[in-house]
Formats: sequence, C-alpha cells, structure tokens
Amino acid sequence: MAKHSVVMAKKKWPLMLLAFLSISTVMVLFLRPNNSCNNIKSFEQQQQDQILASSTSSVNPLDFMKSKLVLMVSHELSLSGGPLLLMELAFLLRAVGSDVVWVTNQYPAEHDQVIYSLESKMLDRGVQVLPARGEKAVDTALKADLVILNTAVAGKWLDAVLKEKVNLVLPKVLWWIHEMRGHYFKVEYVKHLPFVAGAMIDSHTTAQYWKNRTRERLGIKMPETYVVHLGNSKELMDVAEDSVAKRVLREHVRESLGVRNDDLLFAIINSVSRGKGQDLFLHAFHESLQLIQEKKLKLPSLHAIVVGSDMNAQTKFEMELRKFVIEKKIQDRIHFVNKTLAVAPYLASIDVLVQNSQARGECFGRITIEAMAFLLPVLGTAAGGTVEIVENGTTGLLHPVGKVGVTPLARNIVTLATHVEKRLTMGKKGSERVKDRFLEHHMSERIALVLKDVLRKASHN
Ligand SMILES: *[C@@H]1O[C@H](CO)[C@@H](O)[C@H](O)[C@H]1NC(C)=O
Ligand SMILES: *[C@@H]1O[C@H](CO)[C@@H](O)[C@H](O)[C@H]1NC(C)=O
Ligand SMILES: *[C@@H]1O[C@H](CO)[C@@H](O)[C@H](O)[C@H]1NC(C)=O
Repeated sequence: MAKHSVVMAKKKWPLMLLAFLSISTVMVLFLRPNNSCNNIKSFEQQQQDQILASSTSSVNPLDFMKSKLVLMVSHELSLSGGPLLLMELAFLLRAVGSDVVWVTNQYPAEHDQVIYSLESKMLDRGVQVLPARGEKAVDTALKADLVILNTAVAGKWLDAVLKEKVNLVLPKVLWWIHEMRGHYFKVEYVKHLPFVAGAMIDSHTTAQYWKNRTRERLGIKMPETYVVHLGNSKELMDVAEDSVAKRVLREHVRESLGVRNDDLLFAIINSVSRGKGQDLFLHAFHESLQLIQEKKLKLPSLHAIVVGSDMNAQTKFEMELRKFVIEKKIQDRIHFVNKTLAVAPYLASIDVLVQNSQARGECFGRITIEAMAFLLPVLGTAAGGTVEIVENGTTGLLHPVGKVGVTPLARNIVTLATHVEKRLTMGKKGSERVKDRFLEHHMSERIALVLKDVLRKASHN
C-alpha cells in the first residue's frame, strides 16, 4: 500500500479499512495451526542449512514445483486457520508455476458467501476448483505429482472418493495437520495415516502428541513427520512495517472503541470459545485491576479487547463473558469485536497480545507471530506451540493453563503495564525473532524441503 493512499485515507477511514479488508483475506485468523513430528533432528538440521544457504540468494525455494500438478483436499472452506493456510500454500505454489487443483470435502447445502468469495479469490489466482466427488477428482488424484490433505478430518475423503484406488494415491499424499484435540483421533479419519508419504505438523509439541496418541489410542504409527513452523504473509508484514499506516489504524481503532491514545490496551484475538480461554483472561484482567488499586499504582487506564466474537456460534459462552463483565462493572474497559479477517488494524492499535489457549494450548498460534511482527510482547499460556514461539522473559511472559494461570497472568499484566521499558524491549525482541525465523520465505524454505522429500519418495513407488 502506497504511503500516499494511506495519508488520503486518513480522511476516509472507512475506505481504508476496506482496503485492508481486501488485502487481508489471507492474513488472518483464528484457530491457527501448529506443527511437529518425529525424525526431528536431522530434518531440523537440514532446515537450518537450507535457510542459511538460501538467505543469501534470491531464488524462490519452491521453484522446483514449477509445472507440478498438486491436488489440495480441504476438509472445509471457511475463515478458520486450516483452510486459509492451505490457500496460502496454493498461492505460493501458483506463484512458481505449479498447477493447483482444489477440492473441498464438506460443503454446506445452502449458498455460503464466505465460500463463494474464497473460491473466487482462488479462481482469480489460477487455482482450479473441482467438486470433491466424481471422476474428475479421482483422475486428478491419480495424475497428480502430489496430493495435500489438510487436517485430520480430510481423511474422510480418501475412501469416500478414491475407493479401491486409494492405495495408488497414498504414496504421494502429504498430510498437513493443524490440530491436537481428542476427537480427531478416530480410526475413521486417520487409518491411512501410516501409509502416506509424510505428515507435516506445525509445532513439535503437536507432533509429539500425535505420535503418542496414534500409538496409544489407535495402535497405528505415524508416517515420517516434518515439523514446519509457519511464517507471516507478506501482506501482513507490509502493514507491520509501515509506521504511517500503523499510526492511522491505531488512532482510528482506538477512537472507535473510545480508548485514549495513552491508555493501555490488552487484546485476545481468537475465535471466542472456552478452549481459547477468553473467560480466564477476563478473570485475570479483572484481578489485575484489583492489584493496581490495592498497590495504588499510578498507571494509564487499562482496557481489554476481545476480538473474535460470534454470538451465533458460542451463544452460551459469549453470554457468560458479558455477564461477568457486567457483574464486575468493567463494561467501560472491556470491548468485544466480532470475528474478522482483518486483524492488522487491531494489532496496530494494542499494546500487548494475550494468547490464552487452554488444555494442550495452541498447535502453533499464528496470531502470536503476527503480533510479534507488530512489536507486541505476548502474554501466553505455557503450552503447545506457544512455547516454541515465545521466549519467556525475552519476547513475552508465560503463565500456566487453567485456573491456576489466572493470578500469574494478572501479575504479568501488571508487570507489563508498569514497566514500559520492558514492554517495549520485549516487543522489539519479538519482532527480531519473527524476522529471524517466522517470515513467509522461512516457511517456504521449510515447506520446500518437505515437498522435495515427498516427491522423491512418491517417484520411487
Ligand atoms: C508423549 O509420551 C512421552 C512418553 O510416554 C511423554 O513423556 C510425553 O510427555 C508425551 N508427549 C505428549 C505431547 O503427549
Ligand atoms: C456482530 O455480530 C452480531 C451477530 O452475531 C451482529 O448482530 C452485530 O451487529 C455485529 N456487530 C457489528 C459491529 O458488526
Ligand atoms: C517464566 O519466567 C518467569 C521468570 O521470569 C518464571 O517465574 C516462570 O516460572 C517462567 N514460566 C515458564 C512457564 O517457564
């Protein structure tokens, strides 16, 4: 985005928001995935070598995918992390001249505006979209150099569509897994997992979890597993590096929320649901206000913003959050924002990101690296992929999952509110960490290694 247009937009704020919305389809959202695997050491060493070697050249690491036919099988098409990430990969492959064909296994009966716009976006970028069932999909699977299945649930597609031909396709399947919740461990979904060319998982923790669970619960063995940490899209980095755009976004978002420029704004940006821990965050936030009062600390006023509401999806939980806010009389400090693809305006407006995913934590947590790119420190749960991203004490502060994490999180909120220097330094360190390892080109390099390995194995079959 040209600086000029940003300045113009200063007067035309709604127009600018629109511009951000339009570039941000891919820079979003919720339920971001993670990865991990076994055979970790040698693969990691390879990753390091490759990244060192390619950081000095301008060659696109995915160039070898030119003219390769890739079939992508998405479990569903929605604004959640999994499908959006697969779309991002589709575009990276289109950019180097791969032929990319996309099928969506689970399609709603009625017209869906989100699906329509995501499919249009893919068609614009030269991705072919096919019905998930039928001869064409089967033919493409047989002809493809590579088939990428996205999420565990996409396993349902294999038998349903390929039927007796499934064994011909398995040796060229790369299975990309972004989740670690119990209900994914169903034989029905993953029984072919041991026979595919490889599994790609977003964090080490998640890979380890899959390895354990498939063995203990299902008695099956994971195929070769590659841990591939994600990277930020170029679009997101463009905004993160544009100080004029950021300032304008910050002013306008704060104005629309009624938050002053020097107030401190803490945000939690995930689809609202118990697993993402918005309830425990609000408890901690309330506790931090009490701490500040007890200790008579002189601080700017603290606000919290919960981005990712969807009253229709999690009505009971959403009502519970609002009830808590009213009971504690903190309505003027807590702001709820509906689920949106455009997270950049919020990242530009806040002072601290809270990543409060519960249980086993986030698989990876893409919002975490996006926030770090915006120079924000992260207060995160010490679980899942978050511990692979956030360095406790350096780029943020970690607290335990569960109710026992509420008081530590409250203290961490007060710490970052009190120590401006610490907050800013952590943000800066986080952004350096992103530039070292969580950019789009890093992700491309990591994925390129996996795709090369899978192609090599597939060609030996
Ligand atoms: C996997 O199992 C090992 C040994 O049984 C255990 O130490 C480890 O914590 C488990 N990891 C996960 C992520 O469940
Ligand atoms: C947020 O979503 C609800 C429905 O879930 C809708 O009624 C409300 O108008 C939306 N708010 C904004 C600001 O768009
Ligand atoms: C994070 O570091 C703090 C000290 O800086 C320590 O008290 C806390 O236990 C650490 N948490 C984790 C999860 O490592």
